[in-house]
Amino acid sequence: MAQIVGGLATSHIPAIGAAIAKGRQAEPYWKPFFDGFPPIHTWLQQVQPEVAVVFYNDHGLNFFLDKLPVFAIGAAAEYRHADEGWGIPTTAPLAGCPELSWHLVEQLTAAEFDLTVCQEMLVDHACTIPFQLFWPDQQPAPVRIVPIHINTVQFPLPTARRVYELGRAVGRAIGCWDDARRVAVIGTGGLSHQLEGERAGFINKRFDLQFLQSMETNPQWATQFTDRELVELAGTQGVELLMWLAMRAALTEAGSGVRLVHRNYHIPISNTATGVMALEVQA
Ligand code: DHB
Ligand code: FE
Repeated sequence: MAQIVGGLATSHIPAIGAAIAKGRQAEPYWKPFFDGFPPIHTWLQQVQPEVAVVFYNDHGLNFFLDKLPVFAIGAAAEYRHADEGWGIPTTAPLAGCPELSWHLVEQLTAAEFDLTVCQEMLVDHACTIPFQLFWPDQQPAPVRIVPIHINTVQFPLPTARRVYELGRAVGRAIGCWDDARRVAVIGTGGLSHQLEGERAGFINKRFDLQFLQSMETNPQWATQFTDRELVELAGTQGVELLMWLAMRAALTEAGSGVRLVHRNYHIPISNTATGVMALEVQA
């Protein structure tokens, strides 16, 4: 059976893609952010995941307000990164893992999560930037992916509890995949940020640090909040922390617990409080 080796989460700001393209990682503005990654690179060298299930939120590239699934899953052989208007270079297509996609579709549907199945799917910065950050020296990244989109754009959002249960169902489904490959689960987005309106620039360090701690020791903590409460606490785009929550929930279904490999928190990059975290599943 397949094995979940661990979970990864990171912010996914488009400006990161521009900084990478321009080689700015060592500049004073960027260094505290990029310094969060080398311990995670070392760990990835050790555990060598071969497949990654990626919880991400589409920002209007693949879906728009006219048709926006709450949950959608890719079942394609590759996922093309397209220009979204942020001015960042498009990266090479990410290789898909249709066999895991279809296994997840079967298992999740049986578990009463009815995802929109996308046999063609473009991916945006939320899906591509994590691979540039986690595998900077291996482009394209040496993993096949299954992207799972969660709506964080059009309200009402799925409840944090529902997202947590989806993550658990994904964790269980990976655990019964009849395949020997090593799987990582990735969540991308957050932490606190708000890009528009009266509270543009809003950041909540206290909440972010509580959330990061909960990822380690109390994974259900964030399920107590409604979508509106999450907006209040983390900002209209900070609700992307739901991707982290889904990732973390998947890990609860694997092994006996998690070990923190590394985490980093840095304010700001662009308008966002950035976080990165790697958790290893304990046997
Ligand atoms: C920014 C953050 C995001 O999560 C995003 O999707 C786009 C932009 C930002 O802070 O610039
Ligand atoms: Fe975003």
